[in-house]
Amino acid sequence: MGRREVLGVAACGMALAACGTGGAESRPSLKGKVIAKAADVPVGGGTLIEDLKVVVTQPTEGVYKAFSASCTHKGCAVSAPKDNVIRCACHGSEFATDSGKATKGPATAPLASFQVKLQGDGIIVV
Ligand code: FES
Repeated sequence: MGRREVLGVAACGMALAACGTGGAESRPSLKGKVIAKAADVPVGGGTLIEDLKVVVTQPTEGVYKAFSASCTHKGCAVSAPKDNVIRCACHGSEFATDSGKATKGPATAPLASFQVKLQGDGIIVV
């Protein structure tokens, strides 16, 4: 392994979100934590938790999803979801609130997702 490869691995290890390719993302620091209150996540929309860089959505009543807020195009922070669309203002990419799938480019990869569950009135990363 050359020096550049070693540096690349080290960089990905320090910033998991930046190296994700759209699959389920594991952030040990979020596991088991309440990341949002269900009441703050509207049906058909969602909420952006800026300090965690996470978007929590409720595409249909009672179904909660969570995604990395880092756009898969160039890494800008996406906006709070609205009308079941997560938008990135940097270059206009759009993502589905139910899957994180890129529905409009230039981004082609889905947003990294987190497994979440509703417990009481809180949404928890599992
Ligand atoms: S960084 Fe999001 S569309 Fe370019």
